[in-house]
Amino acid sequence: MQENLGSQITADIHRLESLPAIVVQALDQLSQPDVNLRQVSEVIGQDSVITARMMSIANSVYYRRGAAVHRLSDALVRLGISMVKEVLLTASVIGIMDRPLNAYQLDRGQIFRHSLATAIGARLIAQRVNYPYREEAYIAGLLHDIGKLIFDRYLQDRYTEVIEHATTNEVAFVDAEAHILGYDHAQIGGLVIAAWDLPARFVEAVATHHSPSTAKDFPELAYIVHLANAFTLSLGLDVGGDGLMMMVDAEAITRLSLDADQIDELISDMAQAVVDAGLGVDAATADSVYGDEAVSVA
Ligand SMILES: [Fe+2]
Ligand SMILES: [Fe+2]
Repeated sequence: MQENLGSQITADIHRLESLPAIVVQALDQLSQPDVNLRQVSEVIGQDSVITARMMSIANSVYYRRGAAVHRLSDALVRLGISMVKEVLLTASVIGIMDRPLNAYQLDRGQIFRHSLATAIGARLIAQRVNYPYREEAYIAGLLHDIGKLIFDRYLQDRYTEVIEHATTNEVAFVDAEAHILGYDHAQIGGLVIAAWDLPARFVEAVATHHSPSTAKDFPELAYIVHLANAFTLSLGLDVGGDGLMMMVDAEAITRLSLDADQIDELISDMAQAVVDAGLGVDAATADSVYGDEAVSVA
């Protein structure tokens, strides 16, 4: 049964919509030391949906600096390489995440908003703890629950058992997933990120976002994402059915050398930043957060 489930999940991972080819190509260009943003904009400009979303994000209060920009190449130059990566990934996952996850009790748009809030929180924590690669924290936060997109349909039939196990044994929802189904959404998320050919640090951070002390190679990134997810839940942002049954690893706070005042400050900065990013209460769907708008590409 378990083996059978494993092969079904693997097949689903390969069926899940992947990052568009132009996004993979642009990410590759962005990782080159001699990256030319004009060339990157030519690649991205081939996809009008991604381009429109990127323009919308670049002009949100969260990213906008000064007057609105109307051309993709101008937006990329203004954002700079690190933030271009964030905006590109955000624009790419909107479509992939734009659906309800019934077993997790998340309506359409909620998994994207939860992911975006966690990304924003992770970047703030990275900044606070002087983690040098803030965009990595953002991207890992954005992708942390991607495994739920696959796991939702398997959880559906066993949801009551999972809840019962978590409640009776006072364990986290994610541990109950693993106990009842043999897999959990974090582990599956890691497999999705690996299938997308994203760097190993993202695979590990996603796979260990509920168990950061098991991260071997990039523990700091895993702790940042773990804490950002906890902050997102504490702000009540698209919590879902499992959100109230999450355990926070106290190690995250000590390992990142944060004190209680800094945590309070981070949570209140995060509350403002998610509003700046457009995550208001009216943002019912992913597209209403960063809607498509008319743009020209040059
Ligand atoms: Fe999770
Ligand atoms: Fe989460």
